[in-house]
Amino acid sequence: MSLSDDTQRQEVASAMEALADAGTLNAENADLHWLYEQSVQNVEVEVKFIDRVFRREFGRPASFIREDFCGTALLCSEWVKRRSANTALGVDYDGPTLEWGRVNNLKPLGEKASAVTLIQDDVRKVTSPRAEVLAATNFSWWGFKTRAELKEYFMISRESLQDDGMLLLDIYGGPEAQVPQIEEREVEGFDYLWDQDDFNPITGEVRCFIHFRFPNGSQLDNAFSYDWRLWSLPETCDLLEECGFRKVVVYWEGTDKDGEPSGKFNPDRKGDLAPAWVAYIIAFR
Ligand SMILES: C[S@@+](CC[C@H](N)C(=O)[O-])C[C@H]1O[C@@H](n2cnc3c(N)ncnc32)[C@H](O)[C@@H]1O
Repeated sequence: MSLSDDTQRQEVASAMEALADAGTLNAENADLHWLYEQSVQNVEVEVKFIDRVFRREFGRPASFIREDFCGTALLCSEWVKRRSANTALGVDYDGPTLEWGRVNNLKPLGEKASAVTLIQDDVRKVTSPRAEVLAATNFSWWGFKTRAELKEYFMISRESLQDDGMLLLDIYGGPEAQVPQIEEREVEGFDYLWDQDDFNPITGEVRCFIHFRFPNGSQLDNAFSYDWRLWSLPETCDLLEECGFRKVVVYWEGTDKDGEPSGKFNPDRKGDLAPAWVAYIIAFR
């Protein structure tokens, strides 16, 4: 890659923001990873949540996080920004996505970029160095579709944690999670479409896509696709216990005064009958 390519790529975020502000983002000029980060990830909130849960259990802050399926390593970069002692390890097997993260998320950190290590490999092949927090977010662990595969991943995750360590998984469910439908959401400069395309009630497999739509009517269809198994909360918690985790806690989202999801997650054993929900599972080593 030439120096000018490199400089150009570092400017992706500001170029995209300018296009979004001007209302001229379209299928031709939009950057896929930037669109994904804007519409799907909220790492500031996630890092605060991780801090709160770890402190509650261990009475001190965590400093070393591992982000599995890290993609562009946005969570890693937010983690090392939060405290000077923080370090992060990101693991993903996709080289170009990691490279995008290096240029667009790590380089802007300056000296702090050296606090993040990225490994290009299958998450099941990496067990060291052992982390205090292992986070697998945006349901990426659903790519393990058989019990044997998921069990192997959980065993490896446990092995990859320090004694005072926790695994964090996110999960969604509710009756609507099994219904083919498209959910649309406006993001600054474009629309995000979450397409639950197909669900197999026998295997639990679900096929989903992300599409993006722009003000000029152009679309990026099937920009991201997912071939997952919709794992349930009880079967996942049971499996984590079977893999030796000493305590498994479900953090359920509360509701505000209008009955809408509040964005605040707390330990719960009952939940509610929301048609669609997102929760966190925390498994302590
Ligand atoms: C949905 S993205 C997640 C990106 C980001 N971590 C997030 O929370 O939004 C899934 C990522 O997982 C990676 N991936 C899927 N299976 C993997 C595996 N077995 N080992 C390593 N990376 C994997 C893909 O390359 C992709 O970058």
